[in-house]
Amino acid sequence: MPSLLWSSPPVDSPTLIDYLQQLRKQGISHIPITDQARQVLRELYTRGSARRPSPSSNSSNSPETAQKAPPSPSPTSSAQTTISPSGSTPAEKINSLAAIAQTWPAFKNLQSLRETLVFSTGNPQAELMLVGEAPGFHDEQQQEPFVGPAGNKLDQILKAMGLSRQQIYLSNICKFRPATKNQTTNNRPPSPQEMASSLPFLKAEIEVVKPRIIIALGASAAHGLLETTKKITELRESWHQFQGIPLRVSYHPSYLLRQEEGLGEKRKVWEDMLAAMDKLGLPISEKQRGYFQ
Ligand code: URA
Repeated sequence: MPSLLWSSPPVDSPTLIDYLQQLRKQGISHIPITDQARQVLRELYTRGSARRPSPSSNSSNSPETAQKAPPSPSPTSSAQTTISPSGSTPAEKINSLAAIAQTWPAFKNLQSLRETLVFSTGNPQAELMLVGEAPGFHDEQQQEPFVGPAGNKLDQILKAMGLSRQQIYLSNICKFRPATKNQTTNNRPPSPQEMASSLPFLKAEIEVVKPRIIIALGASAAHGLLETTKKITELRESWHQFQGIPLRVSYHPSYLLRQEEGLGEKRKVWEDMLAAMDKLGLPISEKQRGYFQ
């Protein structure tokens, strides 16, 4: 029986419709298809074309990863989508996910996100994964998360923990900078729909990195991951779960930038980090335990 397998030639040439019409002429009205072929069909359907996207239209992607990017009919249903990266090492898989994100239709469909992808940074095999809100002006320029003032604050926190960026995996609950009218350097938090559109990527990243702990930095990350609208004050100081992985909620580093007076809020963040360090079994000196008091 003919079938639509991932690598079967008819998807490429001649056109898929020609192939299906040939089958129909032969009296074949049903064929089995693989999940990957189903993704391609969805993409073709959404693009209003029976032709597969040509590799040249996705110049930053390898043909294979570009073909694997399925569209989503709506941002909400996009959150349920499972994305399977190609590659054999965690680094290759993260690169594959970033390549898929470049052309992921749900992002464009929203028409509220800017165009530059800021995917993630850090160690794709890290034990600790931090999830922030969305790229801002500086991050978008450098195409790397947390490189602006909030990133400097985050680096300080990591240093106090005895860690560096290279040892952790750092991502955002929204992969593009949310757009505003007449936007210059101003940023805004992502909407629930914008976060939902990135969630399949976050889930896939977690599948690849397999961190032992996730820290959600700020309300957007906490709300997007935990599907709650509870305040940070209610979510801190306990362990939650995301995809079976212990998750801690803390304040966003930019919140600390607005609290330079006094140690109170810094200490709260530090206690969140101490909890994470304890759980990871990282060494904690007496000096470290006493920071920001
Ligand atoms: N930059 C990011 O990448 N994420 C944030 O949450 C803030 C700044």
